[in-house]
Amino acid sequence: MKISVLGTGMVGNAIGTRLLALGHEVMMGSRTATNEKAKAWVASAGNKASNGTYETAAAFADKFVINCGNGQHTLDILKQAGASNLKGKILIDIANPLDFSEGMPPFLSVCNKDSLGEQVQKLLPETKVIKSLNTLNCNFMLNPALLAGDHVIFMSGNDDAAKGEYLAFLNTCGWKSTQVFDLGDIKTARGTEMLLPVWLSIYQKLGTPNFNFGIVK
Ligand SMILES: NC(=O)c1ccc[n+]([C@@H]2O[C@H](COP(=O)([O-])OP(=O)(O)OC[C@H]3O[C@@H](n4cnc5c(N)ncnc54)[C@H](OP(=O)(O)O)[C@@H]3O)[C@@H](O)[C@H]2O)c1
Repeated sequence: MKISVLGTGMVGNAIGTRLLALGHEVMMGSRTATNEKAKAWVASAGNKASNGTYETAAAFADKFVINCGNGQHTLDILKQAGASNLKGKILIDIANPLDFSEGMPPFLSVCNKDSLGEQVQKLLPETKVIKSLNTLNCNFMLNPALLAGDHVIFMSGNDDAAKGEYLAFLNTCGWKSTQVFDLGDIKTARGTEMLLPVWLSIYQKLGTPNFNFGIVK
């Protein structure tokens, strides 16, 4: 598949690199087509990797666009990507609305009665937005076998068919269907975004990001 990764940070890098290893073509998007981090990634990633603006990258995708942008700038990033380029596509929103402007620990700039996932869906009504992969470290997002056990990820989205296609894609990345917990519509993104303060406290206590959540009945 031709998959777009919006963002040049550690998440964009890890996701893009893993997608290439899985055999996909990947375009990494950023604010400019000459972004140094994106160019360096392409140079190291081989001939199925390319980079461009958010707009070019969004247009490149045949089905999946993965938002790996900064949470505080995600709505701007998606406006730059352009609603028409994202129309009908499945947008996996990994961004967390963490605000570091008052130092550590960060606070959530949106929570409780709203979420970034919902704001993204409101901004892009003709795009199938799925909030997912935002509750674990980027090295494991598309490579669950790197962590032992049946740890889980979540998905939140309004379109059941899109969630089915996304689940099939996750299966190709190594996630078992039983490890992917469908929480419901996009409103349930509130919960996974609010899990981040818990994730950060665990990270601080363990001293490593190499862990994930699990569900036991
Ligand atoms: N680190 C993890 O393992 C992890 C886990 C779960 C979720 N997340 C979430 O994943 C997302 C990406 O995290 P990250 O650490 O890789 O990257 P990041 O530093 O949070 O974001 C980098 C991206 O944000 C864009 N950006 C920054 N300021 C901008 C602005 N003013 N306008 C438009 N775009 C702007 C940059 O654009 P340019 O390319 O143009 O510079 C860059 O592509 C975040 O939302 C984070 O909360 C991260």
